[in-house]
Amino acid sequence: MKSNLVLIGFMGTGKTTNGRRLARKLHKEFVDTDTLIESRSNMSVEEIFSSYGEKYFRKLEKKIVREISKKNNKVISTGGGIILNPENIQLLKEKGYIFLLESSVDNIVYNLKNSYKRRPLLEKKNWKSEIIKLLNIRKKLYYNSADFIIRVDNKKHYHIVNEISKIYSRNVNKDIKFNYKKYKNNKINY
Ligand code: S3P
Repeated sequence: MKSNLVLIGFMGTGKTTNGRRLARKLHKEFVDTDTLIESRSNMSVEEIFSSYGEKYFRKLEKKIVREISKKNNKVISTGGGIILNPENIQLLKEKGYIFLLESSVDNIVYNLKNSYKRRPLLEKKNWKSEIIKLLNIRKKLYYNSADFIIRVDNKKHYHIVNEISKIYSRNVNKDIKFNYKKYKNNKINY
């Protein structure tokens, strides 16, 4: 049965903040792919991008996904580009439900106004139009990867966290009932 919750979405949609709160609420361990990449390589995401480039960063990202997707009972916040490799999503779905945090461009711009310089892909002069450009390229990938879509605009963190945890509980209960039925019909051997 799936016991992980995976948060995907564009930069500045609140994956880390909401993920941490969600983990606390559901008594699960919180993991963040960027933080893991940084601690394993002893470098910040910016340093990795500037010294070795995006391709190398994606390799490290894939390696971390391979590792954490095997674990159970985790809330996993991912970097905004996790959807660029379909294998990442396939792996994360094996033990987890994928929640897309969906946000308007205005909200993303507002959330990133003090931190866009720490995002190597947004370091360009016109970072706002870069957001629009990247979102257009990625939009389809985000939607196709998601099991559930959560709108985050104008919502407080507790509201977002409650929404996700309700959906999660409902689905876990459905899975339990479904497996029990299969078990009763002798379709599953325990
Ligand atoms: C990226 C998003 C960042 C980080 C890296 C690349 C992306 O994570 O992984 O800068 O490609 O969208 P956040 O989404 O947490 O900002």
